[in-house]
Amino acid sequence: MKKINKFYFGEEEVSKEQKVRLVNDVFDSVSKKYDLMNDILSFGTHRIWKDILINMIISMKSSNKNFSYLDLACGTGDIAYKLLKKNSKKIDVFMMDINDQMILQAKQRKEHKKYIGNLCLAVSDAENIPLVSKSMDCITIAFGIRNVASVDVALKEIYRVLKYGGKFLCLEFSQIELSGMDRFYEFYSKNIIPELGNIIADDRGSYKYLIESIKNFPKQDEFSDMINNAGFTNTKYKNLSGGIAAIHSAWKI
Ligand SMILES: C[S@@+](CC[C@H](N)C(=O)[O-])C[C@H]1O[C@@H](n2cnc3c(N)ncnc32)[C@H](O)[C@@H]1O
Repeated sequence: MKKINKFYFGEEEVSKEQKVRLVNDVFDSVSKKYDLMNDILSFGTHRIWKDILINMIISMKSSNKNFSYLDLACGTGDIAYKLLKKNSKKIDVFMMDINDQMILQAKQRKEHKKYIGNLCLAVSDAENIPLVSKSMDCITIAFGIRNVASVDVALKEIYRVLKYGGKFLCLEFSQIELSGMDRFYEFYSKNIIPELGNIIADDRGSYKYLIESIKNFPKQDEFSDMINNAGFTNTKYKNLSGGIAAIHSAWKI
């Protein structure tokens, strides 16, 4: 992993402001084809990973108490909408993303109308969450944290907004820990993904950035340390598909 007090857009060192703007440009560009590309590039596997995350959220919920839940970097809303589809009783869902085009895509999905009574969507930065302290039972961020300029600042914000007894769950691409798979994955991500990005979305650059951002993200244990440094306890991770992705979980106690 590169130095965390520096800001990188892919391989390039940039200022914090440049990183925020360049990442925003990427998601402006991919927003309309984001869901389709996710299915193609992951062969649908991202759905299985997301279902695992959603089951972890549901396991925290009790049937007779109100549950407040925030999905940060919600993108087009996959996690929050899937959760509501499985269990929409006594739950208030907040969906936030820094990119207005991704929020627009989330609002245009049919689930938005269906679950409007449970939902609040906002354009906002994970580094400055517009919610009062100790207000959420659970906060998730899926494939979002590696795009945030200051991961440490976002983790501290997440900690601030969680209630005591609340849980943080982070689904993110990670480092393969299964020998033999790494060479295939490296070839696929370096050569195939940007090419598919070019052919299907006419956007090689954005998909090249996505791959470089995965490569530069901290390994499972390093990221656990960063979560602990933000104040969390009982931090654990579960590898998915040999470590292609991982879910980190941590408590505010
Ligand atoms: C790869 S998408 C993930 C979307 C969704 N969570 C999913 O799993 O499909 C990453 C998202 O992170 C958002 N993002 C990047 N930086 C952010 C920040 N500082 N605060 C909030 N969202 C951010 C992007 O706009 C984008 O929608």
